Amino acid sequence: TVPAHAGARTHVPVAIGHRGVPVLAPENTLASVDRAADLGIRWVENDVQRTRDGALIVMHDTTLDRTTDAEQRFPGRAPWKVADFTLAEIQKLDAGSWFDGRFAGERVPTLQRYLERVDRHRQKLLLEVKAPELYPGIERQLVSELRRTGWLDAWHVGSRLVVQSFSAASLRTFHGLRTDVKTGFLGAPKVAELPAYARFADQINPKHTGVTASWVRSVHAVKGPHGRPLEVSTWTVDDGDRAVALARMGVDSIISNAPHVVEKALAEN
Ligand code: G3P
Ligand code: CA
Repeated sequence: TVPAHAGARTHVPVAIGHRGVPVLAPENTLASVDRAADLGIRWVENDVQRTRDGALIVMHDTTLDRTTDAEQRFPGRAPWKVADFTLAEIQKLDAGSWFDGRFAGERVPTLQRYLERVDRHRQKLLLEVKAPELYPGIERQLVSELRRTGWLDAWHVGSRLVVQSFSAASLRTFHGLRTDVKTGFLGAPKVAELPAYARFADQINPKHTGVTASWVRSVHAVKGPHGRPLEVSTWTVDDGDRAVALARMGVDSIISNAPHVVEKALAEN
C-alpha cells in the first residue's frame, strides 16, 4: 500500500500517444493519429527527419527498413537511410503492412500532412526533432514549416505545441530561433545541471525508469525560459500501475504506446 501522503497530488498527468497509438496502428502514420483521436487522446508525439531532397517527414528510425517495405522495393539500397532517399521514393513505400495487412498502403507522412491531420482532430503535438546531427539546419527548416502550416500562431504556440529533442545543441538552436515555442529536453540531467537546461527548455523529459519524487520536485523548483516551473514528461509507460506511480511522483505528462490504457488507469486512481 502507498502511504497517504505519497498519494497526494493536485492534478492528473496528461497521457501522450507515443508515435500515435502504436499498439493499435502503425507508428508515426496518419492512421495512428486517427486512432488516437478516436480514443479521445488529446496529445500525440512524433519524430521528424529529412529526406535527401530536403522534405520533412515523420519517421522514428533513421533507416526505412523496420517500418516500411523499403527492403523489398529498393533491394540494392541498404542500409536504407532516410537521408539517402527522395520524398518521391519514400512516398512509394508501404508504411502499414509490416504492422498489419489492414493498414496496407498507409504512407510515410510528410510533416505538412501530419500537422494538417493533427489540426483537423484538434489534437496537440509533442514534436521530436530526431537525430538532428544528421540534418544540419533542420531547426530553421522546421520553423519555416511550422510557420507555413499555421502552427506558429498564438493559438498553437500558446497551448498546442512542444518541440523536443535528445540533442541539447539542437534544442538550444531551435529556442534561439523561436523563443516563444515550448521545448523539451529528452534526458534526465542531474539536479545541479537543471538551471543550464532551463535556459532553453521548458520541459525535462526522462525515461521513466529512473524517475523519483524528489527529482521531479527538484525539476519543478527550477523556472524555465518563460518564467514557469519546468515540467516533466516521462516515457515510455504502457502499464497502468506504473503510470499511477509516476503520477504520484508528480510528473506532468506520460508518453505511452497505449495512452488509452494510461488515461483509464489515471482516471480510476
Ligand atoms: O517522447 C519520448 C520518446 O519518443 C523518446 O524516445 O526513441 O521513442 O524517440 P524515442
Ligand atoms: Ca520520439
